[in-house]
Amino acid sequence: MDAPSTSDTTATTADRQIADSPTAEPQSDAVELDAPSNRKAPFPRGFLETISTGWAEHPAELPQPREQAAWAARRRARVSEAFPGRRVVVPAGGLKQRSNDTDYPFRSHSAFAHLTGWGRDAEPDAVLVFEPRDEGHEAVLYFRERADRTTAEFYSDATVGEFWIGPRPALDGVAADLDLATAHLSDFQPGDHDLTVDVDDEVTRFVSELRLIKDEYELAELALAVEVTGRGFDDIVAELPRIIEHPRGERVVEGVFHQRARSDGNSVGYDTIAASGPHACYLHWTRNDGAVTPGDLILVDAGVEVDSLYTADITRTLPVSGTFTDIQRRIYETVREAADASFAAAKVGVPFRRLHEAAMEVIAARVAEWGLLPVTAEEALDADKGGQHRRYMVHGTSHHLGIDVHDCAQARRDMYYDGLLEPGMVFTIEPGLYFQIDDLTVPEEYRGIGARIEDDIVMTADGPVNLSAGIPRTADEVEEWIARLSR
Ligand code: GLY
Ligand code: MN
Repeated sequence: MDAPSTSDTTATTADRQIADSPTAEPQSDAVELDAPSNRKAPFPRGFLETISTGWAEHPAELPQPREQAAWAARRRARVSEAFPGRRVVVPAGGLKQRSNDTDYPFRSHSAFAHLTGWGRDAEPDAVLVFEPRDEGHEAVLYFRERADRTTAEFYSDATVGEFWIGPRPALDGVAADLDLATAHLSDFQPGDHDLTVDVDDEVTRFVSELRLIKDEYELAELALAVEVTGRGFDDIVAELPRIIEHPRGERVVEGVFHQRARSDGNSVGYDTIAASGPHACYLHWTRNDGAVTPGDLILVDAGVEVDSLYTADITRTLPVSGTFTDIQRRIYETVREAADASFAAAKVGVPFRRLHEAAMEVIAARVAEWGLLPVTAEEALDADKGGQHRRYMVHGTSHHLGIDVHDCAQARRDMYYDGLLEPGMVFTIEPGLYFQIDDLTVPEEYRGIGARIEDDIVMTADGPVNLSAGIPRTADEVEEWIARLSR
């Protein structure tokens, strides 16, 4: 659809916002209002004289604070304590151009979502500011309020106009919803000494480390994300016959999962990896343009992001025909053994890196047993001279999970990889084995087989809890799953 925008169609969001300032006076002259365009007729005077009138008032009733608001306030208190007397700025980020006048769907910065509680409905270009006061800070949320209906923005701005994108929030509505002071974006002035997330290292690190321990609300949202993701995996299994039929079956897998992510969540938390046959050995295979062929394994790594923006991150590897061959089963069950060893190692007070080490001990032992290593398993595990087994699993075993799929990415190493497991941490366990199609170091029967199992784990005082345990994961369970749903 073409937008009868008054601004140049190649203008950036910021340009468009300036061009259609919501504080602009009502326009009355059709020729002045509508810049010459190669693709539309100017609005006639009759339209311009009537378009701003005849609308009912917006409902006056304000919402109750959403559940997330009280949790976000507690998180903000931590930021306030950490930076006394300093002005802290947390931008939501803006729209990103895809091409010409189309943008990618907006998704706010994770620190912004965490500290405001504003999830999928956050406004592009919003900014959360911690204004220093005599005691602590006052948090103020600046955003571009919906335009008055007397402005051209209302009906002619395809980026922010309510005629185009639907109802947008008012300052008082968001203030009530998030239980936070709000102000119009045009009142926000950056300061010379601001500590701005993604500009200042100290504050960027702090807000990333603040997410290492999840609160109750976050744990519930992550459990929900896993639950919906499980439904998406069921959908894929149920659709296997159609997936096999299509020459680009991997795309069908991606689409089936995406349908569930959009209907029951906000979106996918990252691009779905639908990697069949040898593609499973490419760790982030997201081209997804291959066929899904009986006799092969298909590795699906996918996660639903729910409306609060928390995401799951789950991998299952399925035999396309419904049953594993002997070699596929051996590889798959070794990956499961590694995952189980990692899970068993997860204890409060143990270094995060033990999760990886425990998985690697299994992988090294098994590939050595299979005669694939030029050294012993013990030698392969040597921190200095070893690592030969890593050819078959080059990635890490675990990462923190939350609003970002790779959460807490700016945390210091001694808080993350060398940090100790604590109750409230959420992380993946995701070992794999990948034998590339052209890897001459392995017998031919291994080549082109890749398998990964990825689960989402919550650390509790009583031990680890596998949120995704309900999604079939042993080789027998996976075969039974396919038999049950895809016949
Ligand atoms: N799910 C993809 C990854 O963890 O890298
Ligand atoms: Mn992962």
